[in-house]
Amino acid sequence: MQFSRMEKLGFGVLMTAWVVWGTNKIGNTLVHADEPEKMGFEVAVADQGGAQEAAAPKEAEKPVMELLASADAKAGAKVFKKCTACHSAEAGAKHKIGPNLWGVVGRPQGKAEGFNYSGTLAGLSGTWTYAELDKFLSDPKAYAPGNKMTFRGVPKNSERAALLVYLQSLSDSPVPLPK
Ligand code: HEC
Repeated sequence: MQFSRMEKLGFGVLMTAWVVWGTNKIGNTLVHADEPEKMGFEVAVADQGGAQEAAAPKEAEKPVMELLASADAKAGAKVFKKCTACHSAEAGAKHKIGPNLWGVVGRPQGKAEGFNYSGTLAGLSGTWTYAELDKFLSDPKAYAPGNKMTFRGVPKNSERAALLVYLQSLSDSPVPLPK
């Protein structure tokens, strides 16, 4: 099959437009992923993240227990937005799709009153320590196979550390961070 010059030209223009559009799309997605939802302190947080990653790429992957001491509850509150569709966080608030998380640190696993847990979670007999929450939230499915929290987890250590210190704040008597 032969293409006329016009056809080749047209095809070329289309390809170029497509590549430009595609690059733009990807660019936007990358930029938006880091774009803060609100202006203010969160800008600082986003910037800090970028700078830290550039300066010390491994920092974010230190074990969460080591990151806790320097983690920022405000950054954690931002991560917690991923949870609020299913979890309330105020004292005495109603359970949503998931149990209320007020005072979850130090609480027995699967025992919030009035919440209908899956057999898997109800069957756990431990306590939600920082270490257990860390493991659970990094990969909920792997931690408790068959649980009904349809959430893929928070894979980034720095985000999980921030989230844990935010969860710590959801209490009248916050559980001290592990040494
Ligand atoms: C799509 C809804 C959904 C999202 C999003 C979600 N969860 Fe859950 N979560 C649940 C459900 C449902 C359960 C109860 C699971 C069960 O009974 O198997 C649960 C259970 C838990 C538990 C155990 C509580 C207890 O009393 O034992 C913790 C801790 C928890 N979630 C934390 C989080 C955090 C932190 C986030 C955000 C990073 C989050 N969840 C995101 C639905 C969700």
